[in-house]
Amino acid sequence: MIDLYPMICKRKSFHVFSKGENLSETELQMVQNHCAELSTLVKDIQTKFKIVPIAETTCRRGEYCILVYSEHKPNYLQNIGYMLAQLDLWLAFCNIGSCWYGMGKSFETKYGELDFVIMMAIAKQDEQSFRKDVSKTRRKPVEHIWQGLERPKIADVIRYAPSACNSQPWNIISEADTLRIYRLTEKRGILPAGKAAYYHQIDIGIFLLYVELCLQHEVISFIRNLYLQEKTQHGYLSAEYRLLQHTMS
Ligand SMILES: Cc1cc2nc3c(=O)[nH]c(=O)nc-3n(C[C@H](O)[C@H](O)[C@H](O)COP(=O)(O)O)c2cc1C
Repeated sequence: MIDLYPMICKRKSFHVFSKGENLSETELQMVQNHCAELSTLVKDIQTKFKIVPIAETTCRRGEYCILVYSEHKPNYLQNIGYMLAQLDLWLAFCNIGSCWYGMGKSFETKYGELDFVIMMAIAKQDEQSFRKDVSKTRRKPVEHIWQGLERPKIADVIRYAPSACNSQPWNIISEADTLRIYRLTEKRGILPAGKAAYYHQIDIGIFLLYVELCLQHEVISFIRNLYLQEKTQHGYLSAEYRLLQHTMS
């Protein structure tokens, strides 16, 4: 099992891919196999990951696109964000560059009964073209996303979760042995008004994965409770983590 935590600092969005080696059949099969091993956030939601050449989509970057399809069930967008974020980090480990491509459309909008949700463009890239200095990454300062008396190490690292238009639609309230994760409601960036909630739910799924990787890295065990996006004064309550060993440093 690969530790995805170090990949948080290595991954980045390849808005432009450099032309290099093509992905071999074996590598493509390896990616496809890995898709079947991703952990889910929500049980019993059917998903499918299909790898197609970019020509079968509206995407004009990278070599292949990973198309993601899902059943529509409560929290299905968060579930896809959580799963695809694992794949994104694992691809960085394999030196396969990726770019989440929310604006992209697949020509196949259905996979059986499942609906197309989002795609990710991929191509093989040199190790040197991945992120070298994560501290230079554009993100909100910790104090804008983290509220609580203590500001542990995880607060710095979770910020590097990617999000649509880098909108970072999250807020964490840390109290005693509990972390509460909220999805911000205000429209941000250049996302179309009707689409912001859609992408932000995927973003929250990504963020929850980063929270969990960071907690696991600090050897803090937790119990996660997912919510159905309850509106509160802090935003939509998305998840609560009860920390079983809560000496975060
Ligand atoms: C759900 C989602 C959708 C995205 N859609 C696009 C897109 O359509 N086009 C694009 O160039 N980048 C897209 N991105 C990439 C973001 O712009 C990028 O993650 C963000 O700016 C942070 O930069 P980083 O990934 O390099 O850390 C998307 C990211 C996410 C998480």
